[in-house]
Amino acid sequence: MLNLAERVDLIPPSPTLALDAKAKALKAAGRDVINFGIGEPDFDTPAHICEAAIKAIRDGFTRYTPVPGIVELREAIGEKFRRDNGLEYKASQIVVSNGGKHGLYNAFLCLFQPGDEVILPTPAWISYAPLLTLCGAKAVPVRTNAANGYTLTAEDLERGLTPKTRGIIINSPSNPTGMAYGADRLKELAPLILKHKLWVVTDDIYEKIFYDGGQFVNLPMAEPALYDQTVIAHGFSKTYAMTGWRMGFTAMPTEKMAQGAANIQSQTTSNPCSITQKAALAALSGPQESVAAMAASFQRRRDLIISLLADIPGLTCPVPQGAFYVFPDVSAYYGKKNGGAIINTSDEMAAYLLEAAEVAIVPGSGFGDDRNLRLSYAVSDDDIKRGLGRVKEALLALK
Ligand SMILES: Cc1ncc(COP(=O)(O)O)c(C=O)c1O
Repeated sequence: MLNLAERVDLIPPSPTLALDAKAKALKAAGRDVINFGIGEPDFDTPAHICEAAIKAIRDGFTRYTPVPGIVELREAIGEKFRRDNGLEYKASQIVVSNGGKHGLYNAFLCLFQPGDEVILPTPAWISYAPLLTLCGAKAVPVRTNAANGYTLTAEDLERGLTPKTRGIIINSPSNPTGMAYGADRLKELAPLILKHKLWVVTDDIYEKIFYDGGQFVNLPMAEPALYDQTVIAHGFSKTYAMTGWRMGFTAMPTEKMAQGAANIQSQTTSNPCSITQKAALAALSGPQESVAAMAASFQRRRDLIISLLADIPGLTCPVPQGAFYVFPDVSAYYGKKNGGAIINTSDEMAAYLLEAAEVAIVPGSGFGDDRNLRLSYAVSDDDIKRGLGRVKEALLALK
């Protein structure tokens, strides 16, 4: 056999998608698996958004569009930044892509090159490091902790800096912890980011799933001087329950960078789906009640799952401020077993819980913390209650 390119071996499969596939296979085989694995809202896309897509097809809006997206959509995105974040972006600074992940990849390709290091506050979403690897750059994980609300301090940031550091990624509210940065913490980081001339990529995809009346804030909002070195990565998947539609967007500090990202996109995927663009335009310019209703529903489920986790001896878990994940520390149960092998890692714990309790939960290892598990609570109340009951029973059976 001929050899494949080396990068094939550098990119691991997504453990969340792998777990989802395994859970679905068990379910298909008749097992009553409760799936806390997958990170997507359990709501249908709001009807007016679907109608806009159907209209687009009927109107024949089915051809190539400008590569970075139709101007009306980019203007609506600019309006969103003005309204929600007090930030000014012209349509020419915005690129619409095939999902938030694609927008991040375009941005990384524009900003980072072989040898560059990028600070990644950890635990972090699984895809940042492989996307950087594809650019030849390197993610430098810098550990945060539950005591600091899983946010990076200036001291932490100093620890990760080397002469090769070119950027930092901030994701708030966070996948996997659900924790968010406040303005004070961001202002604490800003002087170092300015001094070391780091690119900031702020992944704001969970902006609208924010709880307890808290105010979302990102780095350029907290420190306007950072506007010139920040890319905002965002998308429709989580806010509007549109994961399958594949639509994200990035706001760039300059037209030059946006043009660069659009050029890259023009040679790889061309414009994002014309029909989805019309749906996204309806999402941004139509009624927003469903967004708040979904966030309220997630908050209620956050309260439920946190109360059930608190009822399991030995688990610790800060109360998330947003997104729809909890990231409990289960390491108090390491070094124990229930008949089989001793459990010492999050992978072993997740495998045990799938087998013994029929719950699919993502191990923390892929997010950079092996003491934890990640549960998505975008599932029904009943599944949360039954699932957490089973988790408790299986953990207490470990001796
Ligand atoms: C933190 C974070 N960023 C970006 C994405 C990408 O979402 P999409 O590509 O569906 O827009 C996800 C999806 O899980 C995520 O959790």
